Amino acid sequence: MVRLNGHFSVLSDLCDRLEEIADRLPDKVNRQDALHVARSVSPTVRRAHDFEETVLFPLLKSRFATDAAIGEALNDLRFEHWEDEMFAEELAEGLVGFIGGLEPRNPEALGYMLRGFFGGMRRHITFEKAHIVPLVQQIEGGGHA
Ligand SMILES: [Fe+2]
Repeated sequence: MVRLNGHFSVLSDLCDRLEEIADRLPDKVNRQDALHVARSVSPTVRRAHDFEETVLFPLLKSRFATDAAIGEALNDLRFEHWEDEMFAEELAEGLVGFIGGLEPRNPEALGYMLRGFFGGMRRHITFEKAHIVPLVQQIEGGGHA
């Protein structure tokens, strides 16, 4: 559970940094920060997903094997992970292109992309906190997060 919360907070921090970039577009973006975020977005997202998909979800799937709704929810979450990973790569490219001043330099499209990404990511985290965390707590015997 500690590890899960760690991943949630890393992803939430990433969302905050992306939101800050979106808010600063087009001229107040810190290029150094934006470049760092562009480089770290995909690996950060993948690390969090890997933990859920290789450790957490298999555990939940076996513990709640008879509950079809949980199985479906986990499949949906896995699909969202895949979508977010694709999206993260596009976003990194968009950021690098913007910072590098490549044409077409389209801050509106980049802002839209950023907001779409961190908005979806925050909804995903909210869903997992509401629906996945209680299952983990059940397994851990109602212990604290
Ligand atoms: Fe997830």
